[in-house]
Amino acid sequence: MTISTSQASSEASALRALMPALANKTYFNYGGQGPLPTPSLEAIVACWREIQQLGPFSEAVWPLVNRTTSQLRLRLAEVFGAGPHRIAFTENVTSGCVLPLWGLPWRPGDEILLSDAEHPGVVAACHELARREHLSLASFPVTGLRENPATTDAGVLEALERSLGPRTRLVVLSHLLWNTGQVMPIAAVAERLLGHPAHPWLLVDAAQSLGSLPLAEAARAADIYAGTGHKWCCGPEGLGAVLLSERTLAEARPTLIGWRSLADESMSESRFHGDARRFEVATSCTPLFAGLDRSLALLESEGTAEERLARIQRLSGRLWQGLQELPGVRPLLEVPPPAGLVSFTLPSWDPAQVVRRLGEQGIWLRKLDDPACLRACTHVTTTEEEVDRLLAALAELIASS
Ligand SMILES: Cc1ncc(COP(=O)(O)O)c(C=O)c1O
Repeated sequence: MTISTSQASSEASALRALMPALANKTYFNYGGQGPLPTPSLEAIVACWREIQQLGPFSEAVWPLVNRTTSQLRLRLAEVFGAGPHRIAFTENVTSGCVLPLWGLPWRPGDEILLSDAEHPGVVAACHELARREHLSLASFPVTGLRENPATTDAGVLEALERSLGPRTRLVVLSHLLWNTGQVMPIAAVAERLLGHPAHPWLLVDAAQSLGSLPLAEAARAADIYAGTGHKWCCGPEGLGAVLLSERTLAEARPTLIGWRSLADESMSESRFHGDARRFEVATSCTPLFAGLDRSLALLESEGTAEERLARIQRLSGRLWQGLQELPGVRPLLEVPPPAGLVSFTLPSWDPAQVVRRLGEQGIWLRKLDDPACLRACTHVTTTEEEVDRLLAALAELIASS
């Protein structure tokens, strides 16, 4: 094992004690959804109450609505290391990817180049966009890259190099791959695209990176960097954010249009916001903004993004190491995970059955289909004891077969 118990308990997370969801289970599904801390739930309820007291629809309520949304926009601007004018609020990761994607100035024959590790929703959106706009689609392989960061980075850039063509207009690549758990060299990919004659846009799915990795460099390098509050940020479901590059702001047209896209609702002729708000649509749930803001503040109180990642890595490393020692179990990665996603196979077991059997013991992980495997996530709120409980439960399962 990579870390002593005394070292780990000296790092015990204050946040963990604020998450009722963690009191009655052993939880490894942060990449699916993070538990909501009680103070975040309380911030949501308090905001909701205040809205009812002041409005709900009144002159008196708008300052509260504006203050709540602005505060979160400013906090996320800090996280992204970019101006708040570049942030649009969305409902989830997928809408953050898709809303600006459809607004880019496509020309028939343009090519979209997707990594082979993208999420099905984003892939489906690209396919439909290609059908409607007469674009072509191509794929570049990253799922097979299982080695150390330097080798992985080189592998990504080589695969990209082999797949880029003169018509490539967009590259789609997640920052942290949801299947293998590898981190992609987003800034280096952006640098390479800058040297391409057509300077393709770079769309980055940040579902697994926002809240788990230091990400400012990658976020600033991407044209579209879309994340959500409900996974690693441990905010409420239903609120995400996308960071857009200056050139995306200059060139992309709004897509799903509503009153929040407009700079001035009173004008008969539509005039969209000059900033990223042109990709926002209409009424959304303001209390969720208060909840996510609180969750981000609580995460920040657990340490800097670098410190949090170091803790996440120590726990995922412990799990990865323990998995190697179980007969027949194979982690997907050949090296300790660079972040908190630990995927592994358990030959001769149906992954769905493993999820069910562990769930019966209150241990929650998930299965993935491509590649077929199980995935357990460690966050700053994970404990060594939880990691060891999972390893023991797997060992017992294997022994029983
Ligand atoms: C990489 C990735 N992209 C997109 C999604 C979809 O997220 P959302 O429901 O927030 O759009 C997920 C969800 O697990 C994901 O892991």
